[in-house]
Amino acid sequence: MGLWTERVLPHVVEATCGNSDMDRYRMRALEGLAGTVLEIGFGSGLNAPLYPDAVTKVFAVEPSHTARDMSLRRVAASHAVVEFVGLDGQAVPLPDDTCDAALSTFTLCTIPDAHRALAEVRRVVRPGGTLHFLEHGLAPDAGVARWQHRLDGLQQRVAGGCHLTRDTTALLAAAGLEVLDTEARFVRGPKPWTWFTWGRARVPD
Ligand SMILES: C[S@@+](CC[C@H](N)C(=O)[O-])C[C@H]1O[C@@H](n2cnc3c(N)ncnc32)[C@H](O)[C@@H]1O
Repeated sequence: MGLWTERVLPHVVEATCGNSDMDRYRMRALEGLAGTVLEIGFGSGLNAPLYPDAVTKVFAVEPSHTARDMSLRRVAASHAVVEFVGLDGQAVPLPDDTCDAALSTFTLCTIPDAHRALAEVRRVVRPGGTLHFLEHGLAPDAGVARWQHRLDGLQQRVAGGCHLTRDTTALLAAAGLEVLDTEARFVRGPKPWTWFTWGRARVPD
């Protein structure tokens, strides 16, 4: 991880994704989250103040030391016990069926191999458990999608590997997760970055 991605980017994410507007969408993704949770791409812990009361324990996976340091205040204030368990959502150091649920917000766009990360979610979350997600991704609007493809290479270089062209629900379906409920729409902001999809998907029995 280069200096920009390790040291600077967590502050950029905090500034762009850590506001009350974003919290509205985060809260929708977190609705119904309960028990022991795997959070991939924990970042600076922006979800921690929003965990529902029913969340008791969070296993956090986050490669950036800077982001983890930035999260410590939120971790200390959280009613849920947060334990950092690994650096890579593609290889989570937890046994099978450890968690009741998983959480990913703005992370499936960035993890190099989202398929491997979702396979890890399926392995670590017990059958019948859920993945709660909030992601930006490929817009259904052809004009916006064209711009997303044009900007994708640059975005990956400046935003720590973040892709603009990943299709969230297609990724979930390819991983064999059953999408239970999902909503998608443009939110406020420049369109290539603001096609948001959120909801829940179930790990099959
Ligand atoms: C756009 S940020 C989102 C952070 C946080 N989830 C949020 O909603 O504010 C993407 C996060 O994914 C993390 N990340 C990058 N590669 C990863 C990997 N292989 N496994 C887990 N997390 C990763 C980054 O360090 C960063 O914190």
